[in-house]
Amino acid sequence: MALVRREHWGSRIGLILAVAGNAVGLGNFLRFPVKAAQNGGGAFMIPYFIAFILLGIPLMWAEWAIGRHGGKYGHGSAPGMFDVLWKSKLAKYVGALGIWVSLVILIYYCYIESWTLGYSVFSAVGLYFNETTFDSMKSFLLSYQGLTRGDHFTSILPAYFFLLVTLGLNFWVLGRGLTAGIEKLAKIAMPLLFLFAVVLVVRVFTLGTPDPAHPDWNVWNGLAFIWNPNFSKLKDASIWLAAAGQIFFTLSLGQGTIHAYASYLREKDDIALSGLATAATNEFAEVILGGSIAIPVAVAFFGLTATQEIATGGAFNLGFVSMPIIFTKIPGGPLFGTLWFLLLFFAGITSSVAMAQPVISFLRDEFGMSHKKATWTLAFGTFLCIQPVVFFLGRGFLDEMDFWAGTFGLAAFALIEILIFAWVFGIDKAWSEITKGAELKIPIVFKYIIKYVTPAYLLFIFIMWMIQEAVPTLAMTHVDPAKVPFIHGSRLLMTLILIVLLVLIGVAWKRNRSAKNG
Ligand code: PHE
Repeated sequence: MALVRREHWGSRIGLILAVAGNAVGLGNFLRFPVKAAQNGGGAFMIPYFIAFILLGIPLMWAEWAIGRHGGKYGHGSAPGMFDVLWKSKLAKYVGALGIWVSLVILIYYCYIESWTLGYSVFSAVGLYFNETTFDSMKSFLLSYQGLTRGDHFTSILPAYFFLLVTLGLNFWVLGRGLTAGIEKLAKIAMPLLFLFAVVLVVRVFTLGTPDPAHPDWNVWNGLAFIWNPNFSKLKDASIWLAAAGQIFFTLSLGQGTIHAYASYLREKDDIALSGLATAATNEFAEVILGGSIAIPVAVAFFGLTATQEIATGGAFNLGFVSMPIIFTKIPGGPLFGTLWFLLLFFAGITSSVAMAQPVISFLRDEFGMSHKKATWTLAFGTFLCIQPVVFFLGRGFLDEMDFWAGTFGLAAFALIEILIFAWVFGIDKAWSEITKGAELKIPIVFKYIIKYVTPAYLLFIFIMWMIQEAVPTLAMTHVDPAKVPFIHGSRLLMTLILIVLLVLIGVAWKRNRSAKNG
């Protein structure tokens, strides 16, 4: 196998910001607080940190190492990377999963990201400031999404418009390439994101007790709600699953995006310190910043019981309903509202460009497509596939994709990759890949964690998911019958995407083999 010259990141700081941008996303500010609130508050943090140490950090190092190693042979996506680790005809096809997961997530994530852009504008111009109750703010959101024909929006056109702008921005950045596109975006968006988050946290912490009639409705009780453990919850397997799932999602693990970014490292570039730095940055953004905004402020304004109900309703109610209501109540609301939604938008776009990268690298590396052509091909495919997500939102189309790619797929791919890396490629070679060029001495115990603990933990998570969620989901046990055909449609689309990827892999390998022989 020939070593190949590849494009590289422009600077160390650019690389770290880009990978941190990849990891810090909507998951940090919307998904995390909701998961914590739903799963026992402080008790959630125990399985969460255990999963961070035993799954998150080891997988982060493994994915950087797999990516850098694959990049050395000219591969920026999992099929080629697995092919160099595992001498089997199957390897490349198994790697399809590493493109599939991020591509499916890309398709629905962009739509949610576009709402944050829309709401930034609505905040700035004060569009929702007459909606002061939960119900009316909720109906504002539903009519924006085209789910009800409310008095706020009479068609889905505004949502569609922001979607087009969001897709346009994403593919414009991607089209500019690695350093001029992704790296530059991260250098601008990440510092702004942190600045906005800090401003919002300070604002939240200075709210005091907004409603004198309810002295216990305050930010401190909100923080206590997230941090006070309810230990009895620890006996429940589902909170261990939720915690592990959150770790995968938030660190962007198990989907091929870290691999793709790492494939643009140089062979001697450090992995140990950079991997840890990006994981730590993500956790700071998630636990400290993400945990200090949406939930505490909701408790201060709505009280504990209502906040719990809002959290049970999911991430969208918290981000797009309860937060806007609060902005209508505080001085400077339009400004803080704009900051909140722009923060989400920056977090979102630095993640969605990452989800696109495995496909672009695949088309370039394995098909020899130009960067421009690869970007356009993906843009076109994404645009087509996003249509049912937009128009069948109320029919469970998006949720189905989120479960199979955003929860189940991550764990499946992570399990497969760690087995290939630590067992097939071999732990000694794997360990020397991870530690090559290291600017940080990783404790040797991680070698054993990577070999035994991470795979066993993953296997456990995976099996539990099969039993608790995948089987009932597959059987559509709790599904409203009206949604059934749309859920079938969603599965059909996901299956087709997988088939297309498998066929493309087969074709690419055949072409490259005959080119070599010919
Ligand atoms: N980690 C991102 C978040 O927290 C999501 C993401 C998933 C990013 C998949 C890249 C790939 O929102």
